[in-house]
Amino acid sequence: MILVVGATGLLGTRVCERLRAEGQSVRALVRRTSNPDKVNALKLLGCELAIGDLKDPPQIEAACEGVSALISTASSTLSRQPGDSIESVDLQGQLGLANAARSAGVRRFVFLSFRDDPTVQYPLTQAKRSVERAIADLDFTTIQASYFMEVWLSPALGFDYIHKRARIYGSGSKPISWVSHRDVAEFCIAAVLRSIASRTVLEVGGPEALTPFEVVRIFEEESGRRFEVETIPEAKLSEQLNSANDSLEKSFAGVMLQYTHGDAIDMRRVLESIPVCLTSVREYARTVLKPLNHRRLSPSLPSTNRLDILERPSQN
Ligand SMILES: NC(=O)c1ccc[n+]([C@@H]2O[C@H](COP(=O)([O-])OP(=O)(O)OC[C@H]3O[C@@H](n4cnc5c(N)ncnc54)[C@H](OP(=O)(O)O)[C@@H]3O)[C@@H](O)[C@H]2O)c1
Repeated sequence: MILVVGATGLLGTRVCERLRAEGQSVRALVRRTSNPDKVNALKLLGCELAIGDLKDPPQIEAACEGVSALISTASSTLSRQPGDSIESVDLQGQLGLANAARSAGVRRFVFLSFRDDPTVQYPLTQAKRSVERAIADLDFTTIQASYFMEVWLSPALGFDYIHKRARIYGSGSKPISWVSHRDVAEFCIAAVLRSIASRTVLEVGGPEALTPFEVVRIFEEESGRRFEVETIPEAKLSEQLNSANDSLEKSFAGVMLQYTHGDAIDMRRVLESIPVCLTSVREYARTVLKPLNHRRLSPSLPSTNRLDILERPSQN
């Protein structure tokens, strides 16, 4: 039995789909407050559901019973309920999960982390590093993933390809290895099913490092439209990081500041042991722009649901 913590999230849902496709028994941790459609989708996949909140240790201990491996993708940054915070979920909640896994004798622990930039410190990245240290005595794999294209190149974060407007943090000249969450899921699967990367920190990015301006150019080429670009100066993000009182606000400013520094990852060595066919930004752009381009050329078609485009980009 494999436990997925964060199963209703973007990455967690994909991990559950892939594990079920591999014929694995999956226990999905969901909350009473989780979106019922997402919970239902997990049920339809054939996942066993365990009700649990990372802030509730007895529920988490119960969820870990009889589990051979777990993957934790949970985070309070985007999906929050009252009482959820970086401290209570990303730090204490994940540390509690590591303790529960240890007590229950869970053999593999795959943890979704974020890239480390020692020059930018903020509560989320500090929480991720603390959990990485706490699982060091387990048979762990830490996946330090770069920026998800489905999140950072989406209208939700100001990359509004629907209205041809792009928000860029910093100068836009530092390359980033944008990665698809679907590809990150493949690394989780390899780590948990094939024990590849046991006791390892895996740095995971996409197939090429592109600057934000190069990404805009790709979207312009694929849509045949010019984008209006707004840049958020690095100094403004530093100021936000220093002046924010709340750990979430600080973390948002911190992660955006980290983006301004770029994040290029050479994937060649990792791909030798875990051969994943990585999605390029151009493939992603084609996928999300396709219904829009199609609608532009066929104005009589009904309008596309924005969330549909965001939530289900396919690799094909
Ligand atoms: N976005 C990026 O660019 C990026 C890059 C690198 C790494 N990451 C990491 O990748 C992971 C997955 O990201 P994602 O986009 O899939 O996140 P997401 O869609 O926001 O999903 C977060 C998940 O965490 C669950 N959760 C939140 N608080 C919880 C709590 N108190 N108890 C139990 N579950 C809780 C949510 O459950 P509910 O549905 O019940 O709220 C949801 O299932 C995160 O750890 C993130 O830090 C993200």
